[in-house]
Amino acid sequence: MPTVKSSMQGKICMVTGANSGIGKATALALAQLGATVVMVCRDRARGEEAKSEITTKSRNNAVDLLQADLSSQQSIRQLVGNFQHHYTHLQVLINNAGAAFPGRRETVDGLEMTLAVNYLAPFLLTNVLLDVLKASAPARIVNVSSATQASGYIQMDDLQAEKHYRSAYGQSKLAEVLFTYELARRLQGTGVTANCLHPGFVATNFGQSSTAPVIRTAVKFISRLGMSPEEGAKTSIYLASSPEVEGVTGTYFVKSIPKRSAAISYDESLQRQLWEQSAKLVNV
Ligand SMILES: NC(=O)c1ccc[n+]([C@@H]2O[C@H](COP(=O)([O-])OP(=O)(O)OC[C@H]3O[C@@H](n4cnc5c(N)ncnc54)[C@H](OP(=O)(O)O)[C@@H]3O)[C@@H](O)[C@H]2O)c1
Repeated sequence: MPTVKSSMQGKICMVTGANSGIGKATALALAQLGATVVMVCRDRARGEEAKSEITTKSRNNAVDLLQADLSSQQSIRQLVGNFQHHYTHLQVLINNAGAAFPGRRETVDGLEMTLAVNYLAPFLLTNVLLDVLKASAPARIVNVSSATQASGYIQMDDLQAEKHYRSAYGQSKLAEVLFTYELARRLQGTGVTANCLHPGFVATNFGQSSTAPVIRTAVKFISRLGMSPEEGAKTSIYLASSPEVEGVTGTYFVKSIPKRSAAISYDESLQRQLWEQSAKLVNV
């Protein structure tokens, strides 16, 4: 544990997708700041390996691993049950896990996979953790979106991308931004903030297994020219821990600086419509 008391000591932080890339670098940095870190990982073996690396590097034993497949609503609800079995507080939730898929496929709940993992999972996980976050205030929710939110559009009549799959990733990342803004408004006065971010183009495992030519080309380009996961995690860490953003909410950040997101993301009627539709899809 760090010898100098940091502002994160005594705080419980949950990071999804914490075994790889930006999520792992975020979990390590928060552990180094003295926080209790709850890593959420899909695969236990990969999670254990990352946990052991984080514990060793941070010299912080307060690193925990919870397993969940975020494409499954049952798994998300079980995750929250497991979390609440061990913890009564949560000061930071970082919805980081994400993926891109070469073609349309469905989850066990019959939902389009990209929307389910990148957007509906954070929506459900956040909603079922809201009471504990409010009870732990001041608390922060950080949603890892992407610059692709700017090229995305929300197809309210085709959220499941049945007619048009190509824009599914952009749609999911724009949905995360709309969700963040609506959530921030709903949380006014509770002491819980909600912000979102683009991490930059980061050399990680992202899209590595994809066979889609467009994703493979982007991955090749990013793996050569992209920043390190440590660099890519900086905005997540800043939003999770910096006193500079205490009380700041409903904002999109790039390189730890507030930026405008896509014009459509500020449409409050669309934010509300998306929230209501999402609540039906995940039964909250
Ligand atoms: N890299 C970039 O340039 C970039 C740019 C903009 C935004 N982002 C966003 O940054 C976030 C982190 O991505 P990354 O670049 O660090 O990629 P990464 O190295 O592939 O990490 C993604 C993490 O998400 C987890 N994950 C994926 N599907 C999951 C599921 N169904 N259940 C549970 N966990 C799941 C992965 O677990 P497994 O290891 O088990 O697959 C992994 O831990 C994503 O939201 C991504 O959209 C990345």
